[in-house]
Amino acid sequence: MGDAMRVLVTGGAGYLGCHVVLALLTAGHDVDVVDDFTRGTPASLSRVEALAHRQVTSHAADVADLDAMERIFATARFDAVVHLAGLRSAVECTDRVLDAYETNLATTFALLRCMAWYGVQRFVMSSSAAVYGASDDDAPLAETAPLAPVSPLGRTLVTNENLLADLARTGAVRVAVVRCFSTAGAHRSGRIGEVAKAPGAGLLARIGHVAAGHRPHLTVHGGDHPTPDGSAVRDFVHVDDVAEGHVAALEALDATSQPVSTWNLGTGRASSVLDVVRTFERVSGRTVPHRIIDGPARTVSRTIADTTRSTADLGWSARRDLEQICQDHWRWQQANPQGYPPTMTPEMPWRGGVGHRLRLVPPLPTRPSAPASSGP
Ligand SMILES: NC(=O)c1ccc[n+]([C@@H]2O[C@H](COP(=O)([O-])OP(=O)(O)OC[C@H]3O[C@@H](n4cnc5c(N)ncnc54)[C@H](O)[C@@H]3O)[C@@H](O)[C@H]2O)c1
Repeated sequence: MGDAMRVLVTGGAGYLGCHVVLALLTAGHDVDVVDDFTRGTPASLSRVEALAHRQVTSHAADVADLDAMERIFATARFDAVVHLAGLRSAVECTDRVLDAYETNLATTFALLRCMAWYGVQRFVMSSSAAVYGASDDDAPLAETAPLAPVSPLGRTLVTNENLLADLARTGAVRVAVVRCFSTAGAHRSGRIGEVAKAPGAGLLARIGHVAAGHRPHLTVHGGDHPTPDGSAVRDFVHVDDVAEGHVAALEALDATSQPVSTWNLGTGRASSVLDVVRTFERVSGRTVPHRIIDGPARTVSRTIADTTRSTADLGWSARRDLEQICQDHWRWQQANPQGYPPTMTPEMPWRGGVGHRLRLVPPLPTRPSAPASSGP
């Protein structure tokens, strides 16, 4: 890798975010996190610090709050921003359209404004396979595939991608867009992972909850997809592979001649929802009762990544398979049946428990690029 960077990770206390923070620390970078802790918890960051034997500076703030973000940018000279804060659930974004657009777009605007004011140029956007339409002809999706999202979530991400591409073409920022496919599993330590009760929790988290006996059965939406077993087919990729892909994308930014580079983070391998259930049952030795609900398809039948470009440009490819995803998720689920312990800090009296150190956001500074005051 090149020189160590000081990286601001938004949404770094969340499921994918805390794995990205750990991967950045492991690669030798310094990390600040900004998170409003509506979904993530400081406990995940305490565990990341223990795993990495390094410290993280955490800022409790809404990334869409421009004043709060400006105060954070004034505390340090960041070399890069990795943006993961947002609403990630397709169902939630469909039910709460205004919240989805407001959160997923206003966070990006505030970051880009602060980056311009404080001269930060590297931006990694955590996007998703939801930007693509269906690939029902069985062909894997290359980065050049048409963007035809079927959900408000996908449309917010495409809007972000378009904004970033337009801005990058002016030379103001250098952008890496990573399109994460179905991110699943947990760190092999079993210390950080996906909380099953979180809104929009992924398939593995929901399967693990059923296997552990917290729910009577798994609901599988759609049993009449045009796939071999009728359930939807996805590209399940280990969260640590996805996290390492974010680091590889960040480190490749300076070497690319393009203002914006887009890379798929997937495995290129297809697994149906029922394949995952069977693999999980074999790995865990538990049965996972499931009910298939037919009806109008809520989602596309098949989404598989073509990873040719990420392998060629980044030297990155997913190293862990579906079995390891299941093993690692089951280890996390067993060690943390209720997810993370409750956390409380002086800034977050609405939570209960013991917490991670959080930095208070300091007073608003004088903006570097602001014109000098001409008097009262
Ligand atoms: N998990 C996946 O399968 C997946 C797949 C593709 C892409 N992604 C990308 O990764 C991102 C994070 O996904 P995740 O699974 O970690 O979700 P998550 O909900 O676990 O994490 C999101 C984090 O962002 C924080 N947050 C939300 N809105 C915020 C705001 N306005 N200000 C500050 N913090 C805010 C939450 O508290 C949480 O810690 C998604 O937004 C998406 O772009 C995830």
